[in-house]
Amino acid sequence: MILQGDKIVRQYKHKSGVINALDQVSFMVEKGDFVTVTGPSGSGKSTLLLSMFGLVRLTSGTVIFNGQRIDDCSDRKLTEIRRKSVGYILQSFALIPYLTTIQNVMMPLALDRVPAGEQLKRASEILDFVGLSDRMDHLPRELSAGQQQRVAIARSIVHRPAIIMADEPTGNLDPALSLEILEFLKKINREQHITIMMVTHSPVAAEYGSMKLHLRDGKIVIRNS
Ligand SMILES: Nc1ncnc2c1ncn2[C@@H]1O[C@H](COP(=O)(O)OP(=O)(O)O)[C@@H](O)[C@H]1O
Ligand SMILES: [Mg+2]
Repeated sequence: MILQGDKIVRQYKHKSGVINALDQVSFMVEKGDFVTVTGPSGSGKSTLLLSMFGLVRLTSGTVIFNGQRIDDCSDRKLTEIRRKSVGYILQSFALIPYLTTIQNVMMPLALDRVPAGEQLKRASEILDFVGLSDRMDHLPRELSAGQQQRVAIARSIVHRPAIIMADEPTGNLDPALSLEILEFLKKINREQHITIMMVTHSPVAAEYGSMKLHLRDGKIVIRNS
């Protein structure tokens, strides 16, 4: 088991009262799983993804990652865990507009103070893997949407994370590009043995899950594996 959430609660206080964005959510993810999280808008999907590694703090409950309890870790420790072990892919690609493809992909390694030569080597390998070796010196705006998302994915796996957390990674892409990205995530899951937890509202994307969680009103209402 790589990730476990136990009785996770996240409340938001709002003028209109307390919102239970996550209400006693428990689940287990095995190493190598491809987990999909579906549910209506506002059901708590993003909150679930963000709360696993401390980008959102829990109101109560526990998170265990690789056998270690992490929900009570300091922000500094959680930042370290995210940098070392987690790759995030979000709907907006969040590429740095004035950096080239290769520079964008090298960024997480630079933050981790990996030597420059090694950064270049690893970023080139990953860009080869995502089929963009001929676009290394392009700026984001010189790439198609699908290519930009592949750069974002390359950047999220270049530090060899144990797990990828993806929030609607195909949300802004047309159906053909969405399929390309999904196939790609499947390939990463199978060939690089990276566990994936992916939020999606697309039934097609949800079919990629080896384990499927469905949320409603902050609760898990269906799980299939
Ligand atoms: N920062 C916040 N402040 C107040 N309420 C929030 C905040 N973030 C999320 N919520 C509420 O929590 C619930 C779950 O939100 P979210 O996890 O973003 O849902 P989803 O990703 O499934 O659309 C929603 O009712 C939302 O309005
Ligand atoms: Mg969301």
